[in-house]
Amino acid sequence: MQRILVTGGAGFIGSNFVHHLVEKTEATVTVLDKLTYAASRESLAGLPDDRVRLVVGDVADAATVEPLVAEHDAVVHYAAESHNDNSLRDPSPFVQTNLVGTFTLLEAVRKAGVRYHHISTDEVYGDLELDDPGRFTEATPYNPSSPYSSTKAGSDLLVRAWVRSFGVRATISNCSNNYGPWQHVEKFIPRQITNVIDGGRPKLYGAGQNVRDWIHADDHSSAVWTILTDGRIGETYLIGADGELNNLDVVRMILKHFGRPEDDFDHVNDRAGHDLRYAIDSTKLRTELGWQPRFGDFAAGLARTIEWYEQHRDWWAPQKSAVEAAYAAKGQ
Ligand code: NAD
Ligand code: DAU
Repeated sequence: MQRILVTGGAGFIGSNFVHHLVEKTEATVTVLDKLTYAASRESLAGLPDDRVRLVVGDVADAATVEPLVAEHDAVVHYAAESHNDNSLRDPSPFVQTNLVGTFTLLEAVRKAGVRYHHISTDEVYGDLELDDPGRFTEATPYNPSSPYSSTKAGSDLLVRAWVRSFGVRATISNCSNNYGPWQHVEKFIPRQITNVIDGGRPKLYGAGQNVRDWIHADDHSSAVWTILTDGRIGETYLIGADGELNNLDVVRMILKHFGRPEDDFDHVNDRAGHDLRYAIDSTKLRTELGWQPRFGDFAAGLARTIEWYEQHRDWWAPQKSAVEAAYAAKGQ
C-alpha cells in the first residue's frame, strides 16, 4: 500500500488523514480535491513535496479520475458535500458529488483493479430516540433523513453492489461526528467557538436536546488506516469513541471555557427534519481489528480545539460573515 489516492484530502477530515499517512506510514499520497468552499490548502501546508501532491479536480469527472486511480494502490474516498444545512438549501451538488462522484470512482477502481475504502457517516442509519438503550451497529437498517445523508446512504449502497457484482476490493466505514482543527465554521462546534471569540452568542437549534457521538478527527484517521490495511474486503466497520453529548451541554462547555454564563446563548430555528440522536457501537472494529480511540477525553479535546481556533483566526475569519449571513437568512 505505497501509493494512496485521497479524495477530498484538502477538507477537514481528509487532510487529517493525509497528515496521518505522512506521519505514521511510508506511503506517498495524491490528494484529488475540487477545492470547493470547504477545502483549505493551508491544511496541507508544510507536508513534504516528495510524499504529497495535490491534483485539483472533480471526483465526478471520469477523464480526470480514471488515469489517476490507475497510478495508485488504493483509493480512500473522503470527497463529499458534507453539510446537512446546505443540503436543505440546495440538494443538487450533493447528488452530483456524493452519488455521481462515488459511481465514477467505483468504475475507475473496477477497471484498474485498485483497492477502495469508502468514507461514510452514521447518519445513513437515521436517528435514535433519546431513551433508546441501543446504538447503531453494522446490522442497523438504512433510514437516512436529509438530502445529505440520503446521498451518503446511496453511495454506500453503490459500493456494496460494486463489491458483489464486480468483485471490487472495497471496505466501508461509517463514523460519528468529528471535531478538531480545520473544521469549517459552518459546522456546530467551530460555529459556536468562533461566535464566542467574535463576542457573539452560540446559536442552538431548537431546545438543544439532540445528541451527537463525538470523536476526534485523529481517532477517525487511525481507524481508517486500520481498516484499509487489516479490514476484510466487502465489510462495513462503524467508527465511534463513546462520545455521546447533547448540543446544549456542548454549548455550555464552550461558554464555560471562555468564562461566560452558561445561559449566554440564543435558541434559533430548528433544522428541518433534525435527527434526534446518533450513537455508535464500534465493537466490531475494536474486537476484530484491535482499534482503540486515543482521544477519549472530550473536554480536553474541546479545549485544545478552542485554543486552535483562537490561534487561527486568519484562517476562519474570511469565511465567517458569509456563513453567518446564510444562517441569519433562515433565522438560525
Ligand atoms: P469537508 O466538507 O470539510 O471536506 C470535503 C472535501 O471534499 C473538500 O476539500 C472539498 O473541496 C472536497 N470536494 C467536494 N466536492 C468534491 C468533488 N466533486 N471533487 C473533488 N473534491 C470535492 O468534509 P469533511 O467533514 O471532511 O467530511 C469528509 C468525508 O467524511 C465526507 O465523505 C463525509 O460524509 C464523511 N464524514 C464526515 C463526518 C464529520 O463529522 N465531518 C463524519 C463521518 C463521515
Ligand atoms: O454524524 C456524522 C455527521 O456529522 C457527518 O456525516 C456530517 O458530514 C457532519 O457535518 C455532521 O453532521 P451534523 O448535522 O450532526 O453536524 P453539524 O455540525 O451540522 O450539527 C451538529 C448538531 O448541532 C446538530 O444536532 C445540529 C446542531 N446545530 C448545528 C449548527 C450548525 C446547532 O444547534 N446549531 C448550529 O449552529
